[in-house]
Amino acid sequence: AKVPSLGSRLHQRAAPFDEDLANNVTTGAYFATVEVGSPGQSITVHVDTGSSDVWVLAKNSDLCTSTRLQDRYGYCLDTFDNTTSSSYAMADPGGFEIEYLDGSGASGDYFTDDINVGTLNVKAVQMGLALRSTSSWGMLGIGYGSNVASSTPYLSIVEQMLKQGLIGIKAYSLFLNDLEASTGTILFGGIDTEKYTGTLKTVPILPDPATGNITHFSVSLSSLASVKGDGSKTEFLTEQLSVILDSGTTLTYLPPTVARKIFTSLNAYDDSAARDSVVYVDCALRTADPAQVLRYQFGANGPAIEVSLADIIMDDLKPYIQSGGLELPKNLGFPTDNVCSLGLQPSTEGDVHLLGDTFLRSAYVVYDLTHNTVSMAQSNMNSTKENIIEI
Ligand SMILES: *[C@@H]1O[C@H](CO)[C@@H](O)[C@H](O)[C@H]1NC(C)=O
Ligand SMILES: *[C@@H]1O[C@H](CO)[C@@H](O)[C@H](O)[C@H]1NC(C)=O
Ligand SMILES: *[C@@H]1O[C@H](CO)[C@@H](O)[C@H](O)[C@H]1NC(C)=O
Ligand SMILES: *[C@@H]1O[C@H](CO)[C@@H](O)[C@H](O)[C@H]1NC(C)=O
Repeated sequence: AKVPSLGSRLHQRAAPFDEDLANNVTTGAYFATVEVGSPGQSITVHVDTGSSDVWVLAKNSDLCTSTRLQDRYGYCLDTFDNTTSSSYAMADPGGFEIEYLDGSGASGDYFTDDINVGTLNVKAVQMGLALRSTSSWGMLGIGYGSNVASSTPYLSIVEQMLKQGLIGIKAYSLFLNDLEASTGTILFGGIDTEKYTGTLKTVPILPDPATGNITHFSVSLSSLASVKGDGSKTEFLTEQLSVILDSGTTLTYLPPTVARKIFTSLNAYDDSAARDSVVYVDCALRTADPAQVLRYQFGANGPAIEVSLADIIMDDLKPYIQSGGLELPKNLGFPTDNVCSLGLQPSTEGDVHLLGDTFLRSAYVVYDLTHNTVSMAQSNMNSTKENIIEI
């Protein structure tokens, strides 16, 4: 397995052509606005269960001071100015360096400062200050603390929350209401019972087969099937599959043999190996059978999550096609005036299979790093109510 060698680099973003057009915080990812320093500076960061470092872009970082770099890597969202924070302290000059699966990365210094996440005020958290970055925003890495990018171990933000008595257990729940939701999606130490339907079901987190250590949110997928409105079912797995729940990854990545079966069933055109890395599919399928879902079953009697086709077939290509930024392959096999992209692609990193936002949007997920379990239920996308209980 390649997971251990990937370390904190575990996550992939969407296709590279995203960089050409207005990249946007609403483009399907978990974001949270936190306050860093004293007085607090409001900074929107990407919430990432696949990595374990918190980092912010420095005000004077290369990306944020160069339009040339921004043309290449995307804009600069929010920055941190360490000179105006009275609680800032340098921790490890030059010690911060992180790289993600998609090739983006950041480097600079580690510092400590206070950070407010929702209602939790965490003191003196070690964070990266990116002086160089190819990412438009900082990260709130909330994976296992054993997985920090630093060669010198330190307590992750979740471990600090526990140590400082802010939570009773290293656990949190994540919920992405819809594509526009940017806040209120993460609850440390709590569960909002209004945000899912049915009951939460629990599965164990799997240790890495090579080391026996638990480093990522790996769980066992026992079945993945297309279920149509008339009840007919097509199974795509022939054996259990270890998959990683990764909020930092936009799409879902499955073994090529499995992905190809799904493409065939949806008459999709796999161009993921090309530069633009798109799997094309007919937009008409978003509405053809509104009851059709991809059904993910975990463990033997674990949670089952249904992802409707409209949530995995994304109508996000038309602006690129119209502007000439994306040239469609010939012989797509369906009308070229209604082309969508499929939010599911073949894995490119050997044994690493990721369930990203195109799966996670349909699930309410409780990550429990104390008991090494994940609990899931079908997300209740329409909920406006709230009922928070402590884990
Ligand atoms: C995101 O896009 C919306 C609509 O196009 C725009 O109003 C908003 O300013 C954008 N946000 C950022 C951070 O670019
Ligand atoms: C702010 O951060 C930069 C980069 O880490 C560092 O060189 C500088 O000393 C810091 N400023 C203060 C006041 O500590
Ligand atoms: C696995 O965990 C043990 C005990 O925590 C640790 O000593 C060892 O370095 C870890 N192995 C790897 C490859 O991270
Ligand atoms: C609830 O959300 C689902 C999925 O987005 C949608 O199909 C349905 O129309 C919504 N129902 C209501 C009452 O808003």
